[in-house]
Amino acid sequence: MATIIVNGKSFTAPDGKRLILALVDEGIDILHRCGGNARCTTCRVTFNSGEPQSYHPREQAKLESSGNLGKFRLSCHILCEGTMDVNVLQSLASTGLPDPGPLPAAEIPV
Ligand code: FES
Repeated sequence: MATIIVNGKSFTAPDGKRLILALVDEGIDILHRCGGNARCTTCRVTFNSGEPQSYHPREQAKLESSGNLGKFRLSCHILCEGTMDVNVLQSLASTGLPDPGPLPAAEIPV
Protein backbone atom coordinates (compact mmCIF):
# COMPACT_ATOMS: atom_id res chain seq x y z
CA MET A 1 0.00 0.00 0.00
CA ALA A 2 1.09 3.55 -0.73
CA THR A 3 0.42 6.50 1.55
CA ILE A 4 -0.79 9.67 -0.15
CA ILE A 5 -0.80 12.98 1.69
CA VAL A 6 -2.75 16.02 0.47
CA ASN A 7 -2.98 19.17 2.57
CA GLY A 8 -1.71 17.28 5.59
CA LYS A 9 -4.41 14.59 5.34
CA SER A 10 -3.22 11.09 4.49
CA PHE A 11 -4.90 8.08 2.99
CA THR A 12 -3.77 4.81 1.50
CA ALA A 13 -3.94 3.61 -2.08
CA PRO A 14 -2.82 0.37 -3.69
CA ASP A 15 0.71 0.34 -5.07
CA GLY A 16 0.60 0.87 -8.81
CA LYS A 17 -2.72 2.72 -8.86
CA ARG A 18 -2.75 5.81 -11.03
CA LEU A 19 -2.23 8.78 -8.73
CA ILE A 20 -5.04 10.75 -10.37
CA LEU A 21 -7.49 7.94 -9.58
CA ALA A 22 -6.28 7.67 -5.99
CA LEU A 23 -6.96 11.40 -5.59
CA VAL A 24 -10.36 11.26 -7.30
CA ASP A 25 -11.44 8.18 -5.35
CA GLU A 26 -10.55 9.98 -2.14
CA GLY A 27 -12.89 12.81 -3.14
CA ILE A 28 -10.14 15.32 -3.78
CA ASP A 29 -11.09 18.07 -6.21
CA ILE A 30 -8.66 17.84 -9.13
CA LEU A 31 -9.14 18.36 -12.85
CA HIS A 32 -8.47 15.65 -15.45
CA ARG A 33 -9.80 17.30 -18.56
CA CYS A 34 -8.27 14.95 -21.14
CA GLY A 35 -9.25 11.79 -19.30
CA GLY A 36 -5.74 10.83 -18.28
CA ASN A 37 -3.99 10.94 -21.64
CA ALA A 38 -1.16 13.40 -20.90
CA ARG A 39 -2.67 16.04 -23.17
CA CYS A 40 -4.30 18.68 -20.95
CA THR A 41 -1.87 18.97 -17.98
CA THR A 42 -4.80 19.88 -15.69
CA CYS A 43 -4.07 16.88 -13.43
CA ARG A 44 -0.83 18.62 -12.46
CA VAL A 45 0.63 18.16 -9.00
CA THR A 46 3.79 19.12 -7.20
CA PHE A 47 5.47 16.98 -4.57
CA ASN A 48 6.57 17.97 -1.10
CA SER A 49 8.16 14.53 -0.84
CA GLY A 50 8.05 11.17 -2.56
CA GLU A 51 8.32 12.42 -6.13
CA PRO A 52 9.10 9.56 -8.53
CA GLN A 53 12.54 9.91 -10.07
CA SER A 54 11.49 8.54 -13.43
CA TYR A 55 8.97 9.82 -15.93
CA HIS A 56 6.57 7.91 -18.12
CA PRO A 57 7.73 8.79 -21.66
CA ARG A 58 4.38 10.40 -22.49
CA GLU A 59 4.47 12.55 -19.34
CA GLN A 60 8.02 13.67 -20.06
CA ALA A 61 7.23 14.49 -23.68
CA LYS A 62 4.20 16.57 -22.72
CA LEU A 63 6.04 18.45 -19.99
CA GLU A 64 8.97 19.17 -22.31
CA SER A 65 6.79 20.32 -25.20
CA SER A 66 4.77 22.62 -22.96
CA GLY A 67 7.82 24.06 -21.23
CA ASN A 68 6.79 22.65 -17.87
CA LEU A 69 9.44 20.03 -17.19
CA GLY A 70 10.62 20.56 -13.62
CA LYS A 71 7.62 22.73 -12.72
CA PHE A 72 5.00 20.07 -11.98
CA ARG A 73 4.11 16.43 -12.69
CA LEU A 74 1.10 14.83 -14.35
CA SER A 75 -0.77 12.71 -11.80
CA CYS A 76 -2.42 10.72 -14.60
CA HIS A 77 0.97 9.25 -15.53
CA ILE A 78 2.31 8.56 -12.05
CA LEU A 79 1.71 5.35 -10.13
CA CYS A 80 1.26 5.30 -6.36
CA GLU A 81 4.22 4.01 -4.41
CA GLY A 82 5.78 4.65 -1.02
CA THR A 83 4.72 7.88 0.66
CA MET A 84 3.78 10.73 -1.64
CA ASP A 85 3.02 14.20 -0.24
CA VAL A 86 1.41 16.11 -3.08
CA ASN A 87 -0.14 19.49 -3.84
CA VAL A 88 -3.10 19.65 -6.21
CA LEU A 89 -2.74 22.67 -8.48
CA GLN A 90 -5.96 22.82 -10.52
CA SER A 91 -9.34 22.14 -8.96
CA LEU A 92 -12.82 22.22 -10.44
CA ALA A 93 -13.86 24.67 -7.73
CA SER A 94 -11.28 27.18 -8.99
CA THR A 95 -12.69 27.14 -12.53
CA GLY A 96 -16.00 27.78 -14.20
CA LEU A 97 -15.94 24.38 -15.85
CA PRO A 98 -19.00 22.13 -15.64
CA ASP A 99 -17.05 19.02 -14.63
CA PRO A 100 -13.47 17.89 -13.97
CA GLY A 101 -13.27 15.85 -17.19
CA PRO A 102 -13.73 12.21 -18.18
CA LEU A 103 -12.62 9.71 -15.56
CA PRO A 104 -9.24 8.25 -16.56
CA ALA A 105 -9.08 4.52 -17.24
CA ALA A 106 -7.70 2.23 -14.55
CA GLU A 107 -4.45 1.72 -16.46
CA ILE A 108 -2.17 4.22 -18.14
CA PRO A 109 -2.93 3.91 -21.89
CA VAL A 110 -0.25 2.16 -23.94
S1 FES B 1 -2.81 15.37 -18.66
FE1 FES B 1 -4.94 15.40 -18.87
S2 FES B 1 -5.63 14.25 -17.19
FE2 FES B 1 -3.47 14.18 -16.99
